[in-house]
Amino acid sequence: MNGLHRKHNIKYGDCVTGTSAAKPSGVIPFAAGDIRPFVLTCGGRMEINMINLRKVAVIGCGFVGSASAFALMQSGLFSEMVLLDADSNKAEGEALDISHGLPFARPMSIKAGTYDDMADSSIVIVTAGAGQKPGETRLDLVKKNVHIFQSIIPEIASRGFEGILLIVANPVDILTTVAARMSGLPENRVFGSGTVLDTARLKYLLGERLSVDNRSVHAFIIGEHGDSEIAAWSSANVSGIPLNRFCEMRGFFDHQQALEQIAESVKTSAYEIIEKKKATYYGIAMSVRRICEAIMRDEKSILPVSSIQHSQNIDGIALSMPVIVGKDGVEKPVPISLSWEEESKLIESAKMLKKVVDSCNEA
Ligand SMILES: NC(=O)c1ccc[n+]([C@@H]2O[C@H](COP(=O)([O-])OP(=O)(O)OC[C@H]3O[C@@H](n4cnc5c(N)ncnc54)[C@H](O)[C@@H]3O)[C@@H](O)[C@H]2O)c1
Repeated sequence: MNGLHRKHNIKYGDCVTGTSAAKPSGVIPFAAGDIRPFVLTCGGRMEINMINLRKVAVIGCGFVGSASAFALMQSGLFSEMVLLDADSNKAEGEALDISHGLPFARPMSIKAGTYDDMADSSIVIVTAGAGQKPGETRLDLVKKNVHIFQSIIPEIASRGFEGILLIVANPVDILTTVAARMSGLPENRVFGSGTVLDTARLKYLLGERLSVDNRSVHAFIIGEHGDSEIAAWSSANVSGIPLNRFCEMRGFFDHQQALEQIAESVKTSAYEIIEKKKATYYGIAMSVRRICEAIMRDEKSILPVSSIQHSQNIDGIALSMPVIVGKDGVEKPVPISLSWEEESKLIESAKMLKKVVDSCNEA
């Protein structure tokens, strides 16, 4: 059974009676074979609080939300998907459009819905927010999007949500920190897509440069998903061969400058794409799908998601470091060795993020 069921495990048709939290009441109205809910009562009022393991919800159906929903539909990971947008017509239109592809995929239900409809989802993905305008930094978006989160996160938390909250809206590290605080959910169950996309961009560019399958490239972008992000070169390798040695094997002896250019290109690629086509969404949609796969299949994959850090130098702020991702969300940090320079840049990145979070608290 999936570990998302953390409390009472009750099977279809189970009938439990009573009026206090110690003696819950209700019949569990789910399809035969499913084992999932638990029942709580507060002051005699029965509340059914549960997780539907095959259900995902996407809040915000703009470029990123709709592309992510489309990628998730194709993934076959879920049998139900709820879409919600401040513009309900947009959510309904996307649900219809994506549903029309179902005869070519696997059966599932895709509907526009409300916060009540998504309360039992195993994963809620938040992409709602103003998009980055040409020339605007991710941090420029802070105030606008924190305000939007104030109208979203309490709606989820107040419904006894027991699943995983995956934050995608930018600035993702700030919004993940804010969402973790606002929701009161355990920190392992609130995290952001972080630098999963930037890391994919890095692997892609290194693969192109070295003419090698990008899936054989192991390298991370860490820190902020944004201008202060860091390419962790000191741990980068191609199938276990240190990156510098692999560059030489491929005939690049003066590769340092090229690597710096690649890191810069990763950092600026969102700006470049936004300049050219107004928004980025396919890469992030695939990143969302990849993170959901790791959770739903309990893969224990190592991904640089943005999670709340608790180390000697960085505390209480979300940023990206490699962690093990599985059915319980962020399960364990994976400390990679960093050079002195990388470590200092990471601390600077964290300090900058903390300043922004503090300024949001003061506002
Ligand atoms: N983390 C990443 O790697 C990554 C990559 C690309 C984009 N993004 C971010 O994702 C976010 C969305 O980008 P986009 O291009 O889809 O923008 P968009 O403007 O196309 O879509 C945003 C959607 O959010 C909806 N929305 C706004 N307020 C809402 C609310 N209170 N409740 C429900 N829905 C609400 C809007 O109606 C709109 O449909 C942005 O913050 C963007 O910067 C993140």
